[in-house]
Amino acid sequence: MTGSNAAAYNAVAEVYDEWTGPLPDTPATVEFLAGRAGKGAVLELGVGTGRVALPLAATGLEVIGIEGADKMIDKLRQRPGGDTFPVILGDMADVAVDRTFSLVYIVFNTFLCLLDQRDQVRCLRNAAEHLEPDGTLVTEMHVPDLTRTDADGQRLATGSVERDRVFLEATMHDPVRQRIRTQVVVVSERGIRLYPNQVRYVWPAELDLMAQLAGLEPVDRYGGWTGEPFTAKSTRHVSVFRKAA
Ligand SMILES: C[S@@+](CC[C@H](N)C(=O)[O-])C[C@H]1O[C@@H](n2cnc3c(N)ncnc32)[C@H](O)[C@@H]1O
Repeated sequence: MTGSNAAAYNAVAEVYDEWTGPLPDTPATVEFLAGRAGKGAVLELGVGTGRVALPLAATGLEVIGIEGADKMIDKLRQRPGGDTFPVILGDMADVAVDRTFSLVYIVFNTFLCLLDQRDQVRCLRNAAEHLEPDGTLVTEMHVPDLTRTDADGQRLATGSVERDRVFLEATMHDPVRQRIRTQVVVVSERGIRLYPNQVRYVWPAELDLMAQLAGLEPVDRYGGWTGEPFTAKSTRHVSVFRKAA
């Protein structure tokens, strides 16, 4: 595995579906991707527990996933439709699937799990190599918000306070390596659980340049999954690329 945080997801797997279950835009994500898929097969990089891939496959599309954390795959297998869903355990930056796809997608900040620029470019190259000539790559990631940490690059926030547990989130920002390291600390009467994570954030313009290095060109950019415009106020972007002519 490249410098990525897939190993951290083995720890998060036990709570991932609980934490992401309430995400309101999963149906819109599926609808957007189904609209871009054409009639060919679809590949998700960092498929996780199948939050998006399983409902997308339920629309009738052939969907395949690549995932680096085996415990996330175990969780996918327990979801409806997950027992037969095709998943390859491997690194999305270089795993080879011996076929091409009309749509490759990498959503929900998963691209940022690759912790240096070289691996992020390798991942885009890998995606491009698995696209059919008229295929589409869709990415979704947040716009970096450097105001979330203080002048020393730190933040300690209360995630949620519940009757029998409290979520604390400790964050450190490394502006030189463009990395955000977080530790979600869950304190309850049963003890303390730690859920570490790390991402390398990228600016939209950097993503476009990395895509260009990978032989891709931008087609569309939106501020979300319902096609809202991408503006200075957008907190994330859904970006669409195709192979450069
Ligand atoms: C933020 S989760 C997103 C999961 C899923 N795509 C979703 O939208 O719910 C990121 C996923 O990418 C996986 N991942 C991180 N780095 C990876 C890598 N280098 N290769 C394959 N999977 C990776 C993690 O294990 C995790 O399951």
